[in-house]
Amino acid sequence: MKISIIGGTGGMGEGFALRWVVNHDITIGSRDAQKAINSAEQYMNTATSSYGNNMKGTIKGADYVSSSRDSDILILSIPYESIKLTCDSISNGIKKDCIIVSPIVPMERNDFGFTYIPFEKNMKSAAHLLAENLPDKKIVSAFHTISEVKLKNINESLDSDIFVCGDDQDSIIKVNQLIGEIKGLRPLYLGSLSLSYQAEVLTPMLLNASKKNKIKHPGIKLT
Ligand SMILES: NC(=O)c1ccc[n+]([C@@H]2O[C@H](COP(=O)([O-])OP(=O)(O)OC[C@H]3O[C@@H](n4cnc5c(N)ncnc54)[C@H](OP(=O)(O)O)[C@@H]3O)[C@@H](O)[C@H]2O)c1
Repeated sequence: MKISIIGGTGGMGEGFALRWVVNHDITIGSRDAQKAINSAEQYMNTATSSYGNNMKGTIKGADYVSSSRDSDILILSIPYESIKLTCDSISNGIKKDCIIVSPIVPMERNDFGFTYIPFEKNMKSAAHLLAENLPDKKIVSAFHTISEVKLKNINESLDSDIFVCGDDQDSIIKVNQLIGEIKGLRPLYLGSLSLSYQAEVLTPMLLNASKKNKIKHPGIKLT
């Protein structure tokens, strides 16, 4: 599968690229094509030295609009605030069957700790906003409760659940497969995209618990 990661120059994007290059061709998308090319080179070096001949894919970089054009899976690894502008730029070029994956968490910090913006300011969940800005596209919401630090450290063994929300069963099956390719991650279907806020809100909760109890990069596992 061709996987493009818009915002792939950030920490989460690096983690996705390093984990999935084992089996897939990855394109890092950035607002600045040269920045994407530089990140892709750096990730490719890390991946090659870790996986050697066991790696089937490659990582390249491009501007985010062209990176989105021929992808089968498009990860939007960008801040909540940039959803509308990004969607406006890419919506016409995305393939009909492309699956859009959102790890986006609308979050900010105040005097009390990290808070979930939609509850504080009566705004929409990231998934809801995406669905509005990419009508008729297949959107799956996932990866809110895994820390970028753990995701990009490919030598660290993971043991976490990933909550998945979406309305198209075929898309959910494909995203679940991708999650399953990352050893130690288990996909757990939460329900329709309209329930994505229940997964998104867990990120500020994890960060508050992490800070107050000095637990580094916590995740969630249901038992
Ligand atoms: N970090 C975590 O541990 C974690 C965990 C779970 C979920 N998430 C969510 O996953 C998403 C990505 O996380 P991240 O920490 O990798 O994010 P990030 O580093 O803040 O941003 C990722 C990339 O988005 C692009 N970007 C930044 N500001 C932008 C803007 N105003 N308009 C358009 N693009 C912009 C930048 O790429 P270019 O400059 O190259 O365009 C940046 O490298 C976020 O929504 C975050 O809430 C993060």
